[in-house]
Amino acid sequence: MTEQSPALDNLLTESRTFPPSEAFSAQANATADFYAEADADREAFWAKQAERLHWETKWSQVLDWTNAPFAKWFVGGKLNVAYNCVDRHVDSGHGDQVAIHWVGEPGDSRDITYAQLKDEVSRAANAFESLGLKAGDRVAIQMPMVPEAIFAMLACARIGVLHSVVFGGFSPTALRSRVDDQAARIVITTDGQYRRGKAAPMKVNVDEALEGAESVEKVIVVRRTGEEVPITEGRDLWWHDLVDGQSAEHAPQAFDSEHPLFILYTSGTTGKPKGILHTSGGYLTQAAYTHHNVFDHKAGEDVYWCTADIGWITGHTYIVYGPLANRTTQVVYEGTPNTPHEGRHWEIVQQHKVSIYYTAPTLIRTFMKWGNEIPQKYDLSSLRVLGSVGEPINPEAWIWYRENVGANSAPIVDTWWQTETGGIMISPLPGVTATKPGSAQKALPGISAKVVDDQGVEVGKGGGGYLVLDKPWPGMLRGIWGDEQRFRDTYWSRFADQGYYFAGDGAKYDADGDVWLLGRVDDVMNVSGHRISTTEVESALVSHPTVAEAAVVGATDATTGQGIVAFVILRGNAVDGGDEAVQELRNHVAKEIGPIAKPRQILVVQELPKTRSGKIMRRLLRDVAENRQVGDVTTLADSSVMDLISSGLKSGK
Ligand code: PRX
Repeated sequence: MTEQSPALDNLLTESRTFPPSEAFSAQANATADFYAEADADREAFWAKQAERLHWETKWSQVLDWTNAPFAKWFVGGKLNVAYNCVDRHVDSGHGDQVAIHWVGEPGDSRDITYAQLKDEVSRAANAFESLGLKAGDRVAIQMPMVPEAIFAMLACARIGVLHSVVFGGFSPTALRSRVDDQAARIVITTDGQYRRGKAAPMKVNVDEALEGAESVEKVIVVRRTGEEVPITEGRDLWWHDLVDGQSAEHAPQAFDSEHPLFILYTSGTTGKPKGILHTSGGYLTQAAYTHHNVFDHKAGEDVYWCTADIGWITGHTYIVYGPLANRTTQVVYEGTPNTPHEGRHWEIVQQHKVSIYYTAPTLIRTFMKWGNEIPQKYDLSSLRVLGSVGEPINPEAWIWYRENVGANSAPIVDTWWQTETGGIMISPLPGVTATKPGSAQKALPGISAKVVDDQGVEVGKGGGGYLVLDKPWPGMLRGIWGDEQRFRDTYWSRFADQGYYFAGDGAKYDADGDVWLLGRVDDVMNVSGHRISTTEVESALVSHPTVAEAAVVGATDATTGQGIVAFVILRGNAVDGGDEAVQELRNHVAKEIGPIAKPRQILVVQELPKTRSGKIMRRLLRDVAENRQVGDVTTLADSSVMDLISSGLKSGK
């Protein structure tokens, strides 16, 4: 077991519980007997959940696990994912229901009904087909939170093309490596994006990324900020020229349940991001089931808002696929939470009467910093369910959320899951579970998770270890794009004897057997709920000509969960390591990976602590970064190194 930070240890002394109100329970979608029902016959339980969708051809077998770890769910079934998220709601008479209340950062807005969404997606699908795209091809999307991003994703799904959304904050280098890895034929972007009240360029970064990219035939550009952008003749097309004139009729074809739906890249423990592959029937089943039950969503009544960006898995599953499959009316907001003022989210909640709100702990802690008086200025009485995702939520933030946003009554669901799991895995069920601040509590009905020791043996109540998923689930990843061996090595080799999926998280059971997540046990950092690997940042640093060696750690940070702290050794004759040099290195990392990976702090040192086999001891560097007494140094090749680092830092060298 890796060491835990003191902040995480505090989680485990929390003992308050909040049982659901009778009124909430009486109307809840989920009931306590779901657990027993799923335990009695897991596959029958999932088959029942899959009935929530429209299948063109019904499956003949729920699960085929004979080729583990490659699962097949709803074998032989055929469906069209976009039809399920759009057309069928129009066909059932709900075409006039608003699907998306889109709110632009500068104050513009658009309400899009399901009937309009169907037209937009159909036009885009026709446009994509007119470019020769066919099922199985890949399209990369780097866009801000504009409606066309969602139209594009659904249009890809409609024609069986895999989309791969790349977060808008990723650098040209990061975009390029993802485009090359999947050999994307088309890239979709915008001219620019609004960020904190200003228009920032987007297309020029994409141009830089795609210089000489062999697979890319066309770049489709959505006009958003209106700024002039260079157009490459023969390659670039404006979305409005290409899409607007297309027919709004498009017949959706049914695809196999295991037809690939999308690739989404996420950080692993090496420098190269992993292209996580998800498929259709099982993924959509889990997305719809979890969205319905974990958020207690009622179609046609609730107004739902998930604040994630579509560049992350939360945006895929809980903005696009789950909510739209469940005929949700939702808010999609383009901008930052403090533009033009710190009450922006609450203003939107008040205006649209948002009833379900799903966000990340890092933002909750930011709201806390901004002050209680800000949410108090708004009418938040419409809110009835609150969600949290992306990192462990500390009890203090949980209680603040409950008191200041949830009027001391809205249940809070702390949802644990990953890009790889496709949908929520561990979470309370509102109306069923007595919630505990800081604990994600129980695997959902149909899901099985365990906390095990080094040997893969389940620990008892009060015990800690590694989180594993011991049974296949419908939304599970079907592999890493183009790298079967890495898929097996990363997730399935640690507990190969037992056949468990290793999640990479530490966890503990409390005395009631509830699960508490304790953060990553590998070299992956979690900064504001974003996964960034230490190796990725280290390779960005050593790619700078002044850097000889670098070691990166995630240090506990009161707002962002973890902050990136880098230790660098500069080359012999390089600059002195003063403020300017450090600033330059921070900017270099932002340029190489993206601003989210910019180290909070860079410390210039003479030596790095290494074991005799040459492995950097990040544990000791974390002690320094968190201002703790440096731990056991006996395995260091040279135990005086830590003194050198500490004294160098004190003297400011
Ligand atoms: O460490 C866990 C943390 O986020 C990781 C997954 O990151 P990503 O694939 O980017 O997906 C984030 C959104 C689903 C996990 O391995 N994590 C996510 N949710 C929680 C969490 N840690 C504690 N509590 C959570 N609720």
